[in-house]
Amino acid sequence: MPNWLKDAIFYEIYPQSFKDTNNDGIGDINGIIEKLDYVKDLGCNALWINPCYDSPFKDAGYDVRDYKKVAPRYGTNEDLYRLFGEAHNRGIHVLLDLVPGHTSEEHEWFLESKKAQHNAYSDRYVWTNGAFCGIGGHPYIGGEAERDGCYMLNFFKCQPALNYGFLNRTEEWQMAPDHPACIATREALKDIMRFWLDHGCDGFRVDMADSLVKEDDENKSATGKIWKNIREMLDKDYPEAAIVSEWSNPHQALKSGFHADFYLDHHGNGYNTLIRDNETPGGDHSFLKKDGNGDIMRFLLDYLPKYDDTKNDGYISFITCNHDTPRARRTLGYDELKIAWAMFLTLPGVPFIYYGDEIGMRYLDIPTKEGGFGRTGSRTPMQWDNSKNKGFSDANPDTLYLPVDDSDDAPSVEDQAKDSDSLYNEVKRLTALRHKYIDLQADGSFKVVYAEKEQFPFIYRRGNLIIVINPSDKKASATLSEDNCLKVSDNGQAELKSIYSIRGCEINGMSVIADAQSFAVFELC
Ligand code: NOJ
Repeated sequence: MPNWLKDAIFYEIYPQSFKDTNNDGIGDINGIIEKLDYVKDLGCNALWINPCYDSPFKDAGYDVRDYKKVAPRYGTNEDLYRLFGEAHNRGIHVLLDLVPGHTSEEHEWFLESKKAQHNAYSDRYVWTNGAFCGIGGHPYIGGEAERDGCYMLNFFKCQPALNYGFLNRTEEWQMAPDHPACIATREALKDIMRFWLDHGCDGFRVDMADSLVKEDDENKSATGKIWKNIREMLDKDYPEAAIVSEWSNPHQALKSGFHADFYLDHHGNGYNTLIRDNETPGGDHSFLKKDGNGDIMRFLLDYLPKYDDTKNDGYISFITCNHDTPRARRTLGYDELKIAWAMFLTLPGVPFIYYGDEIGMRYLDIPTKEGGFGRTGSRTPMQWDNSKNKGFSDANPDTLYLPVDDSDDAPSVEDQAKDSDSLYNEVKRLTALRHKYIDLQADGSFKVVYAEKEQFPFIYRRGNLIIVINPSDKKASATLSEDNCLKVSDNGQAELKSIYSIRGCEINGMSVIADAQSFAVFELC
């Protein structure tokens, strides 16, 4: 386990929308470099940058045309190498985005693979042996290649699936995962990883990490075997490199070698019930919504078994949002976001802040861009200040990659930095708190102290710290007991010192009274 992950707080940057330095209306690598001090000052010490490679951008860069070349719209490879160095000078680690399951249909491997004549790339992708057969229920394209076969898709039409083989084979054209052609795909992936690691990157966020071997078993053991092999390479040659999976199954991902796995917004899972329960019939009962009348047990019943099962293998990563998910500000106000981010920054594992969530940027209802569809509204330009285009770019507003939130009350870093009570300043205090107390970091123990069905507050213990959260708009109370592992003095008082609070929360004797929308951290003396 890379040591730096233990105290890592990530900041996810969608490069299109962070900072444009050459005024072409789209963000660039130099813009990220310019804002590294901002990232550090916010308290983040690691970055995840969405794909910044050469691409036709039919899926915002997740359709990679050349894995080893920075897209000209963002700059050059030299700019990215400089970014690694500048980030390291500030103690910031940088993860790139690795897309192992598919390439762009314009990748040179695929252009070769489509040819009728057999060549070194013929088996780099999943092909049937005839243009008229289906592909076992998977999405596919037929009739477009010179070659007599259909090819499998991994996501959009522009993203043909790379061939890592089939575990349970039913057709002649399906190869076993240990077929030399499938091993060659894995080795090509390792070559890409080595290329960027050798140039100074610190690891990868891995796109659709579970999507490699097709017809895998229910434990994804064949896909897991590939990641274990890759982890062996990292442990041997790049022991400080980290891999974080888009899998959202910590049991499978962390036991396959990933250091951390995202807890993604899957309808009805524990994460979803905290801030994103807005698709449930009967209303939004998110626990962290002040009038949601939520139930912390919906979260714990999902999270606790996952945490207990994997706490010795790696980390579960809580995200404020990502480029695929509607921003939480869509349904939560600033005060609710403060409590939500306070919770995510005091849970175990490695947290990720999505750019702009530190100021509560909105989800905008805007037309699709580059395959974004409903995701586009979470990808708008960062709102730095009150100058032209909110400080994102000097370009003509009509030429921006995506429109800036131009509402009168659109938040900006400039405004919130001046207001000590702002969400931005709360996030800064919270990141500082997490860095200060090792108990709050990735490895600190986690134990539920008080959680009752449909009740507030929620109280948990991290090492020597007790955290009380009452997200509801009503005062809440709880009675603690010695069973909760609290130290109690001779006179029956819990011995606690308050070290952080958002609004009031008191512990008198063993009774906790938490004001509406409050959050507090106590240290056991
Ligand atoms: C997940 C990525 O987060 C998403 O943005 C992308 O469209 C798909 N994978 C396909 O690569």
